[in-house]
Amino acid sequence: MIETVKNRQEELLSALAGLSAEEALALLAREFEGGIVFSTSFSWEDQVISHMILSQNLPIRIFTLDTGRLFGETYYVWSRTNEQYGTHIEAFYPNQEVIERFVTEKGPNAFYESVENRKGCCYIRKVEPLQRALAGNTLWITGLRAEHSPDRGNLPQLEWDETNQILKYHPLLHWSTDQVRAVINENGIPYNTLHDKGFVSIGCACCTRAVNPGEDFRAGRWWWEDKSSKECGLHAHS
Ligand code: ADX
Ligand code: SF4
Repeated sequence: MIETVKNRQEELLSALAGLSAEEALALLAREFEGGIVFSTSFSWEDQVISHMILSQNLPIRIFTLDTGRLFGETYYVWSRTNEQYGTHIEAFYPNQEVIERFVTEKGPNAFYESVENRKGCCYIRKVEPLQRALAGNTLWITGLRAEHSPDRGNLPQLEWDETNQILKYHPLLHWSTDQVRAVINENGIPYNTLHDKGFVSIGCACCTRAVNPGEDFRAGRWWWEDKSSKECGLHAHS
């Protein structure tokens, strides 16, 4: 089964060639019905994808990983989205016993103390819940964009994720920020107002800051760490 999915990349890429992001999602939803999921962090690119899924009523499950440390603004967009589209975005949480033990032993802000603690926290709050959310599915849609980091510039739009044993598709990979903003405005899509204040990608409140003009887009994530360690484990290459 896995081999069959893995080997469909070429065929799927040619079926998707020339389609808009909206059309591509519709085609994939038909092709992978019952096994296709979208992970949202409620960033504005993710909101564009949620809009495409929900306004076309596509059978794609939408979930979020609630780390427990998200911005108040992020929870606001989440509830606005549920209201506006009459939906219930699925929530995945860290394993209760594991996070309780981690915070009790290391304190609530251990991620500032070492890369090891930071990666431990990301593993408990994001990576393990992601594995549960993806289990049993064959296609995972994300809002990754090439502009977000040099590493993402070389990503294929459809890729095999060896770690999670799943096909990954990034419908907005080559979209510019202006394109994203235009679709948000034209369609009255709820969005995270932190984007208006210089935030590019929005993760946990304690680990994300605004980016100054001219700074690398990823500079706002785990800003106290060396560039080489800056990934949380959701996406192996970022
Ligand atoms: S990260 O690797 O730095 O954490 P980033 O914030 O750039 O990721 O988001 C890239 C994509 O990862 C999003 O478009 C979304 O698909 C997924 N993602 C990131 N954070 C979450 C989250 N908390 N819940 C669900 N999906 C997420
Ligand atoms: Fe923990 Fe920060 Fe990672 Fe969020 S981004 S899971 S708070 S280390």
